[in-house]
Amino acid sequence: MHTSDSTIGSHDLKNIEIDINRPTPLFLDKNHEVYWLGITQETAFRCNSYLIRDGDQALIVDAGNRSFFPQVHERVAQILEPQAITGLIFCHQDPDVAASICEWLEQAPDARVYTTPRTQVLLPHYGCSDYPYVDVTTTSRLTLPSGSALRFIDAPYLHSPGAFATYDEHARYLLSGDIWAALDTDWTLVVRDFEQHRNLLDLFHLDYMASNVAARGFVNQLDKLDIEAILPQHGSIISPPDVPAALDYLRNLRCGTDIAYPDLTP
Ligand SMILES: [Fe+2]
Ligand SMILES: [Fe+2]
Repeated sequence: MHTSDSTIGSHDLKNIEIDINRPTPLFLDKNHEVYWLGITQETAFRCNSYLIRDGDQALIVDAGNRSFFPQVHERVAQILEPQAITGLIFCHQDPDVAASICEWLEQAPDARVYTTPRTQVLLPHYGCSDYPYVDVTTTSRLTLPSGSALRFIDAPYLHSPGAFATYDEHARYLLSGDIWAALDTDWTLVVRDFEQHRNLLDLFHLDYMASNVAARGFVNQLDKLDIEAILPQHGSIISPPDVPAALDYLRNLRCGTDIAYPDLTP
């Protein structure tokens, strides 16, 4: 656990050491904290869950599947009482993102679910539906006790029609869900070499992401944001020096229907 006078910012990301038995702080200051919670499972498709704490607000981003729940719960409990969780952000409905929704709502019955309408219609299929839901397409900014905010950015067809990303205005981190996800058997918390990382991004994006139009449309929405780091749901975190190259990667991406129907693609 950190001491109250410690701070961690994006410039520290490449030096952060993981203790696999503890939550890993990615950003810490007096009023605002971001943690990587795991998952520690060693597969190419390993998942990242995150926690954002700001005053009395604590939101889990992409809590993960049911079998991850005990581990994510333990990591959260090392930071705060799990029943104090105030929000669950689900960037889309896939089981690797959201299947633990009912376990979390049992632990934190007052938690609100932050997601898009297209995701919200599917989440109850995990077995619970009686929860307060915030539509992030109409409430696109969530003000936090510190005075900062989370901003929700639509990412249609990346890969789900109702996908979105969450921008933390305080840390200036973009929690991007499946966007910038990478498949990697030699995983590190933070990307070491972005040129090599492109291949690992390709392994996910070429098949899962809809098209260059979808990718470029999303990047255009990010134009006015000052992004220090990108925190995806799979693969490694992209730290400040690599963010411009990561934006370019998405801007130039040929994927999905561009590849499936090349003769129809301009
Ligand atoms: Fe997904
Ligand atoms: Fe995913």
